[in-house]
Amino acid sequence: MTTPKTFHVKSFGCQMNVYDGERMGELMAAQGLTATADANDADLVVLNTCHIRERATEKVYSDIGRLRKHGRAPMIAIAGCVAQAEGEEIVRRAKVDVVVGPQAYHNLPELVAQAARGESAIDTDMPLASKFGALPARRKVSPSAFLTVQEGCDKFCTYCVVPYTRGAEVSRPFAAIVDEAKALVDAGAKEITLLGQNVNAWDDAEGRGLHGLIAALDRIEGLRRIRYTTSHPNDMRDGLIRAHAEVEKLMPFLHLPVQSGSDRILKAMNRSHSRNSYLRILDRVRAARPDIALSGDFIVGFPGETDAEFEETLSLVAEAGYAQAFSFKYSPRPGTPAAEMDGAVPAEVMDERLQRLQAALNRDQEAFNAGTVGKTCQVLLERRGKLPGQLIGKSPWLQSVHLMTDAAIGDMVEVDIVRADPNSLAGRLRS
Ligand code: SAH
Ligand code: SF4
Ligand code: F3S
Repeated sequence: MTTPKTFHVKSFGCQMNVYDGERMGELMAAQGLTATADANDADLVVLNTCHIRERATEKVYSDIGRLRKHGRAPMIAIAGCVAQAEGEEIVRRAKVDVVVGPQAYHNLPELVAQAARGESAIDTDMPLASKFGALPARRKVSPSAFLTVQEGCDKFCTYCVVPYTRGAEVSRPFAAIVDEAKALVDAGAKEITLLGQNVNAWDDAEGRGLHGLIAALDRIEGLRRIRYTTSHPNDMRDGLIRAHAEVEKLMPFLHLPVQSGSDRILKAMNRSHSRNSYLRILDRVRAARPDIALSGDFIVGFPGETDAEFEETLSLVAEAGYAQAFSFKYSPRPGTPAAEMDGAVPAEVMDERLQRLQAALNRDQEAFNAGTVGKTCQVLLERRGKLPGQLIGKSPWLQSVHLMTDAAIGDMVEVDIVRADPNSLAGRLRS
């Protein structure tokens, strides 16, 4: 196989994969390779994969097949969580050229060189020294940028592969994060979303906690907005809740997954919070920041979930009041304790539960969006819309807002929200 000159990175799964994908792209560009807009035009295709549900994993294999159909036979590198979970198995099953785990991708150039020489190129190590120090500096970014501050998970929810694919909870050092945030702002970022599998578990030897980090980023001139995701209920410390009242740049949005409204299911999931403790956290957050937009994740059809237990999830949704949320059918994952549990919920029951839950969540989302009509808010313009002269950005509550304006991408503008559509809001520039 010849040495690739062009590359394309395709990321699946969570925002951390999007961040990792950007950094792998920067790494390959620093090696002199050119990015292509289309995967089918690239000599090297990096599939940055997700293992969270069965369907996500299967997608990798169909993508590999599709890339080869075009007859160009690019070098294929599998990165991300499927790479970590399946390692050599992917090479055996799909004859890919490179396999690189989420903690080892700083070695991608070396692995690509090995593959070009016809050698085996698999690296799923989780080295003690972090990959971040070996990555090139950030240069050009969009107005809203991601920044990974914490990786891995020690919570071991019984359904979840993340503790195995991403390893133990590790916080990046304070100074490295602040430096990267400044570099992002210099490169054009106006908003930074701090990322972690349990981002609110971020901490350092001084015990600054995520709110201490947010306070430091608050002082960066030119940075207008700060967000963070994903949080775990048990790591929602007082300081972070207070930051929602005190730090103006911290946006009124909280993604706080709960998974189920039933205490028995939460226990079987090893979530280590109860329905009530979750709801009480929301009370405290809303006391600090009454207009906070709440988001969550749900799983329906966990092994043994009864109709009555599912009803408890619906009643929690009604009590909590979500502005948006993600909901999934339980998917048994190899190697997790839940995959060994009895009481599989039949597919039709799962389908029906998911439909009912999503109907409730959609209704709440529409109500939340309708509630912002008539308000005036700041919108950070991020991209062009379909119509000429139309730009799309985000409200403080993470809603997409489209408006006609001759302002530029990256500008913050003051906007009257005039209409709520199912998936976005229509705005009018304040004159
Ligand atoms: N660390 C985050 C979320 C990680 S995964 C947290 O704990 O909140 C994102 C979401 O995928 C989870 O919140 C959960 O709702 C869903 N998920 C994880 N494993 C799953 C599985 N085996 N089947 C279905 N959904 C799953
Ligand atoms: Fe998975 Fe639970 Fe960890 Fe979230 S907290 S990543 S759901 S094990
Ligand atoms: Fe998927 Fe891995 Fe993220 S399993 S959700 S890409 S941490």
